[in-house]
Amino acid sequence: MPATLTDHPFLRACRREPAAFTPVWLMRQAGRYLPEYRRVRDRFSFLDLCRDSSAAAQVTVDTVRRLGVDAAIIFADILLPLVPMGAGLTYEKGDGPRIARTIRSMSDVDQLHPVSVEESLGFVAQTVRLVRRELEREVPVIGFAGAPFTVASYAIEGGGSRNYVATKSLMHDDPATWHRFMDVVAGVTAQYLNMQIDAGAHVVQIFDSWAGALSPADYRAFVQPHTRKVIESLRSGTPVIHFGTMTGTLLTDMRDAGGDVIGLDWRVDLDEAWNRLGAGVGVQGNLDPVLLFSNRAAIRDAVADILRRANGKPGHIFNLGHGILPETPVDNVLALVDAVHELSRR
Ligand code: CP3
Repeated sequence: MPATLTDHPFLRACRREPAAFTPVWLMRQAGRYLPEYRRVRDRFSFLDLCRDSSAAAQVTVDTVRRLGVDAAIIFADILLPLVPMGAGLTYEKGDGPRIARTIRSMSDVDQLHPVSVEESLGFVAQTVRLVRRELEREVPVIGFAGAPFTVASYAIEGGGSRNYVATKSLMHDDPATWHRFMDVVAGVTAQYLNMQIDAGAHVVQIFDSWAGALSPADYRAFVQPHTRKVIESLRSGTPVIHFGTMTGTLLTDMRDAGGDVIGLDWRVDLDEAWNRLGAGVGVQGNLDPVLLFSNRAAIRDAVADILRRANGKPGHIFNLGHGILPETPVDNVLALVDAVHELSRR
């Protein structure tokens, strides 16, 4: 491989330049479906693993080599910035993240701690540096953060949610508090991403995983300005992937908030979505993660269909439409990566 990764197919695709094959990586590629990851987790709690830069970097690097994917995503979590803000984040076995001090009023927002990302989240920058050094001749490194809406929704609800009742109520009952809180989260998020870029992340992905819960009008009024502010504050020259799920009706509004590449879930046809988005952005996606529970032939057919829709147009990054699920058979993940490389070679 070259001494610099500038012309790696993943970075070429981020810039919508032609590449020798369609690059592929998978959201949650380092996760519980991998026995190697489960063995590391026997020794660390999830948060302790994130905080141990050398162990976290090893998880990322080992996963990239095991799967043969074309990008390394840092092992961390979108909710980590809520820790120094003082929200009281824990991860409970089986039922995901929990927030002890939910944010529901202006006084809750006022009580949040000011955050120095270098002091409180510097371990993530260190993980980026270690991964970058280790993979310098192999693949580019992706840093990431949650978009303000998705992160704020956890802080407001106290954890994951189905209907976002508290979040949408705050938006509409007390818009001043809503916008103030989103502004605080956006500020920390921009610093957090710039810290990862300064540490060597080649690309950053912004996860607005749950934006699809919103009406287009609410997205535009309550969310888009804050995401735009984050993206506009990033050091220029670093490609941004802007991802969400159930966003079929929000794609052009997400594009207008910013990003070089828009992440698609499997509920849209890639060609139709890319047509709507226009030639000014690339797309990432969009295999249904549940297809990885089927068989090699079905996976290959589904890959071929997505590649046919992308039609060799520069700017497609292959991925799932959302993260790999915990019980996914590893052999099928390997078959997916092989199929993308083989069927897209130009
Ligand atoms: O491989 C990777 O993609 C890298 C790391 C990564 C994690 N979380 C590690 C993780 C990334 C990019 C994330 C993003 C993230 N975290 C999102 C956005 C992506 C998405 O899925 O929409 C969200 C919403 C979160 C918040 C979060 N963190 C939840 C809801 C959970 C629990 C869900 C679960 O699978 O248990 C986590 C924990 C988490 N983050 C795990 C991992 C590997 C599982 C922890 C474990 O039990 O080992």
